[in-house]
Amino acid sequence: MSIFKKKQPAERVLPTHIAIIMDGNGRWAKKRALPRTAGHAAGSKTFKDIARYCNKIGLKYLTVYAFSTENWKRPQEEVNNIMKIFKEYLEDTKNFKDENIKLQFIGDRTVLDPEIQRLMQQSEDDSRNATGLHLNIAINYGGRDEIVHAVKNIVNSGVGVDDITEDMISQNLYTTGQPDPDFIIRPSGEYRLSNYLIWQSAYAEYWFSDILWPDFKTSDLDRAIDDFNKRNRRFGGV
Ligand code: FPP
Repeated sequence: MSIFKKKQPAERVLPTHIAIIMDGNGRWAKKRALPRTAGHAAGSKTFKDIARYCNKIGLKYLTVYAFSTENWKRPQEEVNNIMKIFKEYLEDTKNFKDENIKLQFIGDRTVLDPEIQRLMQQSEDDSRNATGLHLNIAINYGGRDEIVHAVKNIVNSGVGVDDITEDMISQNLYTTGQPDPDFIIRPSGEYRLSNYLIWQSAYAEYWFSDILWPDFKTSDLDRAIDDFNKRNRRFGGV
């Protein structure tokens, strides 16, 4: 018998804030000889299942990367398709109010289609008092862009150079007031952060897997959380 005791689910500690890079939709579609758009549709379904599951197990914060500031370089048809899926999701949010999920969008929304911006605002307003999972959807989001945006805010507020602090930068990010992600998941066999939450992830644990996002199951999330429980987090201490 092993001398190491396996942690039972009851003892399992949940991360406070999980951030996921929903990667591999295109490759998932290609493997099936389907258009990339089918991959994004399947990825959207996985996203909904995982968000619902995170809410069910009592996770406090989940942030997903839906569209980066770099994704505009994709063919127009693909960009339009992702925006269409996103819009359909926003239109649908009114149907799951009873799930008690608090929605927030992070990123520069000012360049998005006005109707999408309106729906985003409405979903945020409608779920403002929800007490379950706080779900951030990163859309037209880039970590460097976010830091530049924060620095501009600080400079505009008239703060003296010597008074600028790390806390001040944190407070001017889109995620202001939220705990930093402590666990970042990237499926699809890529080992990069891709400009995602680069300030907030300074002390996060990372979990990588070859699974393509549309194939990612709640059991995979459970496995990842089990691995998180085996990590020894020292935050620069000993
Ligand atoms: C990355 O996979 C995925 C994206 C850039 C889009 C993610 C969008 C969704 C899951 C749907 C919309 C989201 C919501 C919140 C409803 P990829 O296309 O880069 O995959 P590849 O690397 O295999 O080509």
